[in-house]
Amino acid sequence: MRRKLVAGNWKMHGSLADNDALLTAVLAGMGEVGCDVAVCVPHPYLAQAQARLAGSTVAWGAQNMSQHAKGAYTGEVSAAMLNDFGCRYVIVGHSERRALYGESDQVVAEKYAAAQAAGLAPILCVGETLNEREECITEQVVGRQLDAVIEKCGVASLAKAVIAYEPVWAIGTGVTATPDQAQAVHAFIRGKIRALDAAVADNLVIQYGGSVKGSNAAELFAQPDIDGGLIGGASLVAEDFLAICKAG
Ligand code: 13P
Repeated sequence: MRRKLVAGNWKMHGSLADNDALLTAVLAGMGEVGCDVAVCVPHPYLAQAQARLAGSTVAWGAQNMSQHAKGAYTGEVSAAMLNDFGCRYVIVGHSERRALYGESDQVVAEKYAAAQAAGLAPILCVGETLNEREECITEQVVGRQLDAVIEKCGVASLAKAVIAYEPVWAIGTGVTATPDQAQAVHAFIRGKIRALDAAVADNLVIQYGGSVKGSNAAELFAQPDIDGGLIGGASLVAEDFLAICKAG
């Protein structure tokens, strides 16, 4: 039986004071939560997350990392640096990184490989744009995004990873995929992996992300192939994030 994972992606939000209040409130509510929980914070706040969350049931991670181990890459952050701050997870290939920072499937696969080589669990984001959905090429796009990683690292690598299906049209828009729409893509992803390795597919955590709220989380997470969520906006409000965690 797969455990569900609800992970917050704070994106570029927060301050020392705001984070402190948010983490205090989240920790206070964890007694009623039965699933795995993590927060992915901006790099400057990793030390704060580590200090506040070490020894708790909430894991922490980063939202991006370099594919390179070290060197002349001004402004970049390596996997080893994330390890220095006790990260368990790192998001790779978020659609905002792909769209705004030009990360190709190949670069995302390199980041995924570098994360795993350092012992971090990548949360690999995949998902189609609205145009791609309307053109009925969702499976083609998601399949291509997965293939880049499988070709580089092998299907067995997914035993130590998480996949987040995040339809781009649902991110930050308030338009959530219906449980049926999300389940269909999750089933496609798991089926594609099952064709290569059934055990890996059965154990793989596949999160849904895109306008998840306390009011729609339970119905989404009840789908057979949806194993929790990657939460943007609602992860910044303790009450909302906890409501989603309790649905996990
Ligand atoms: P929202 O929950 O704000 O739609 O963001 C989803 C997301 O991008 C999580 O990575």
